[in-house]
Amino acid sequence: MLPDSLTSQTLIPQATAWVLDNYKHNSLHMVNSLEWLDRIAPGSVEATRLAVLTHDMERAFPGPDQPVWNGDEDHDYYVAHSNRSARIVGDWLRGQAAEEALVRDVDALIRVHEFGGWPEADAVQAADSLSFLDVNIDLFLDYARTRRYRVDQIRAKFVYSHTRIRIPALQEISGPMLEVAVARLDALGIR
Ligand SMILES: [Fe+2]
Ligand SMILES: [Fe+2]
Repeated sequence: MLPDSLTSQTLIPQATAWVLDNYKHNSLHMVNSLEWLDRIAPGSVEATRLAVLTHDMERAFPGPDQPVWNGDEDHDYYVAHSNRSARIVGDWLRGQAAEEALVRDVDALIRVHEFGGWPEADAVQAADSLSFLDVNIDLFLDYARTRRYRVDQIRAKFVYSHTRIRIPALQEISGPMLEVAVARLDALGIR
């Protein structure tokens, strides 16, 4: 990856506008994920920052090939979701005349954003996880109230957002966030 000092411009403003315009129901999580990345890995290169900002964008574009989450921690679902996001973001980046090397790096990071795997990928996955625990809890408490998913599924999702983080120092941040999220879920009194 080229350091930002060697690239002529950033696509972050255009990507932010694309996210806000298209992912109406959860653009907060996308923008907030980038804020977390800049906190936990300041100075991250353009590809890493773009990947974090756009990692879930397939959910903004429903279609027959869109995978459906059944509420369980399903590896195959996460792979399909990640790969579809990578394809949609790659198409958008090419439409912005992005360098092919940048497109390739963003693609690789989005494909593993649920899993991590190398330092930049681990940072992307941690930023996503921390942002989930930061701004997505209310959404999932609503899913419990409306019985869209079972409470045990939602609890597992909360726990997974903490345990999957591969950077031990960051689990010290996500651990207390998980405790608050689980306490709020339990306080609903739904079985
Ligand atoms: Fe995701
Ligand atoms: Fe996410």
